[in-house]
Formats: sequence, structure tokens, C-alpha cells
Amino acid sequence: MNILQINSSARREASHSTRLATRIVERLRDADPEATLTLRDRAPHPVLDETALGALFTPASQRTPDQAARVALDDALIDEIQAADVVVLGVPMYNFGVPAPLKNWIDAISRAGVTFRYTEKGPEGLLKGKKVYVALTRGGNYRNTPADTQVPYLKTVFTFLGLTDVHFVYAEGLSLGATAEQTAIASAYEQIEEAVAA
Ligand SMILES: Cc1cc2nc3c(=O)[nH]c(=O)nc-3n(C[C@H](O)[C@H](O)[C@H](O)COP(=O)(O)O)c2cc1C
Repeated sequence: MNILQINSSARREASHSTRLATRIVERLRDADPEATLTLRDRAPHPVLDETALGALFTPASQRTPDQAARVALDDALIDEIQAADVVVLGVPMYNFGVPAPLKNWIDAISRAGVTFRYTEKGPEGLLKGKKVYVALTRGGNYRNTPADTQVPYLKTVFTFLGLTDVHFVYAEGLSLGATAEQTAIASAYEQIEEAVAA
């Protein structure tokens, strides 16, 4: 089993989402000690700007060296997710959305003809047969409310890419005092056990 772990918190040691994602990986490796791990830990990925779009939409044979280098950065992330059997993401809520590095990663791996394609029946995701675990951390409580834009967004984009087996683990209320924080983390650990057993 190949595991791909994506951490998107801006924080290093203090990050709850990274810790929870790492816990998920540990539990998966307990079940499969041979599992390999590829880790993307807060690695900055360039934003999808006009230069990047120009590179992506230029045929490979006509790209300048700079354009080829820019596309190669995205290719590396696509290679990683194609090779993964399981994807584990640590995702804090930042200003009601996902952290920008995670958005940049999603922009990089979403490529027509490679990770999805359009057919006569509509779009078809090409990243099939993988499991996804998402460890969500929030200062407040937003689960199942309209303010939780993260889960609908991630579900939509993952489904579009063919990633339909997605498990969410929530740690909420982390900014609401020490007791609330401890309760949230304990609950998240229980959710991890349920998710990896599913
Ligand atoms: C820049 C920033 C923006 C945040 N925005 C929100 C938010 O919109 N809603 C929320 O519930 N918590 C918000 N928080 C709190 C974080 O989601 C919370 O601290 C979480 O634990 C951060 O994840 P981490 O521990 O992995 O770093 C924000 C924190 C930061 C640093």
C-alpha cells in the first residue's frame, strides 16, 4: 500500500491537523507495516497564475524550458497521487476555506485528460480505487452548517476526480478553551479508529 500524506497547516509542531493526519497514517501502517509513505509537509506549490496556465495549455513539444519546468512541478504531484492507494490530508479551516497551499495542490492535480476527462455522458474522474482520509481542524463548531464550505468543496472536487471513498475526521471547537480542545481531540482519535476500521 502506498500512502500519500498532505499537510496543509501553516504550523509545524503545534498543528493539530498534521498530528491527526499522522495518527491516521500510523494506524494504517499498524494494519500494513509494509506500507510506504510519501509526505508533502507544507511544501509551497506555486499558485495557478497566467504564466502557469500558459505553460499548461502549450503543447509539450512547444514549451519553453521555463514552461516545461512549471508543468513538471504539477506533474510530480500528479505522479504522487496516481501512485497512491490511500491519501491522507490534514486540513485546518482558514477563514472558512481550505489553506491556500491545499488549494494550490488541488489546482495542480486537477488536469483534464489525466486525472479527469469529459465524455459524452459528462465528466469522469480518473483517480479511481483510492481511499481518502481528511483530518479537519477548526477553532469553532461548523460541522453540518452552511458555514462549513470545506466539506462540500472537498467532496465535490474529490468526486469529480474519481475519489469517492472519502472519510472525514473532525476536531472542532479547538479555540473554545482547554476542555473543549481536549474533548475535540479525544473525539477525533475515536473517529480515526472508526474510519480506519471502515
Ligand atoms: C489564519 C487563520 C484563520 C482561521 N480561520 C478560522 C475559521 O474561519 N474558522 C474556524 O473555526 N477556525 C479558524 N481558525 C482556527 C484554526 O482552524 C484552528 O486553530 C486549527 O487548529 C488550525 O489547524 P492546525 O492546528 O492544524 O494548525 C483560523 C486560524 C488561523 C491561523
